[in-house]
Amino acid sequence: MKMSKKYDVCVVGATGAVGETILSILDERDFPINNLYPLASKNSAGKRVFCQGKSWTVQDLDTFDFSQAQVGLFSAGGSISEKYAPIAAEAGCIVIDNTAHFRRDKDVPLVVPEVNPHAIAGYTQRNIIANPNCSTIQMLVALKPIYDAVGIERINVATYQAVSGSGKEAISELIDQATKLLSGNTEVDVKVYPKQIAFNVVPHIDVFQENGYTKEEMKMVWETQKIFEDDDILVNPTAVRVPVIYGHSEAINIETKKKITAVEATKILSKASGVTVMDKREDGGYATPFVEATNHNDTFVSRIREDISHEKGLNLWVVSDNIRKGAALNSIQIAEILIQEYL
Ligand code: A2P
Repeated sequence: MKMSKKYDVCVVGATGAVGETILSILDERDFPINNLYPLASKNSAGKRVFCQGKSWTVQDLDTFDFSQAQVGLFSAGGSISEKYAPIAAEAGCIVIDNTAHFRRDKDVPLVVPEVNPHAIAGYTQRNIIANPNCSTIQMLVALKPIYDAVGIERINVATYQAVSGSGKEAISELIDQATKLLSGNTEVDVKVYPKQIAFNVVPHIDVFQENGYTKEEMKMVWETQKIFEDDDILVNPTAVRVPVIYGHSEAINIETKKKITAVEATKILSKASGVTVMDKREDGGYATPFVEATNHNDTFVSRIREDISHEKGLNLWVVSDNIRKGAALNSIQIAEILIQEYL
């Protein structure tokens, strides 16, 4: 990114799964950084991280003076954002928050740059912009071009979510469990998830709600309606954790307002920003989370086919790097628009 003006940027949760990817994407996209402030817990203070050819010292979040930064990228969990994002915002540091904490607040924009970049303008109300849930982001990147072309009445979606979405501890839990089981042990430690995740599939992400859905599922409903600015769009999700380390997958069925054929949908999606269509009807002609999506910026769309059970139904298989587009990259794309158009 070529800009003469440079910005002071803090990264909250810089030693975590998302924070580390934020640092590498800031580097890779040449984000115009003046000073970088990697922040984490006391335990990590003094560690060094590398970005844009320099080594930067991790500081304790608790004692950081946010007036030193103009932009703050937050990925240290909801309770940390709840406490520190308002402090940062008050000090003049515009927060781009990766947690669910502010997403439903009416005066906090919720942004996917390929879908509703105009919403960023609303940051002035609180100095906070929210990054949507990883599953919502990739779903809407894939669906927005179809929504614009023919309208969408209803979305049915089942997610297959990687463990990296729950942070480094969850990655270790999957690897430890798999290693133990492959070494002949029958007992594994189960801490992060409610059940064993190695060689298993768990239909439960985040807490149960009164209506029987989980909060992860309801986030996809609330966030889709907010980002599309469409309270009438119906969303019916089932969110599932699978023993994959990187890359979320989604089996999506939509009911459109006007009929769209698979050929038309493929043509529209092939031209869409942030989307790669990989859809050959042959062995291996589709995208998978680890092999194709991981370490890529685009969301991949495969298995585009008309629904044989519904006249205006269409099926899609959508995969994306949950840490990259689902979190770090989306935040940085928001920051890029923010500095280019508003600061
Ligand atoms: P630390 O590494 O010092 O614990 P992940 O999502 O991979 O679990 O990472 C969480 C990130 O949030 C890490 O950078 C972690 O820092 C940071 N974090 C967690 N708790 C706190 C806290 N109380 N104060 C500051 N940073 C925190």
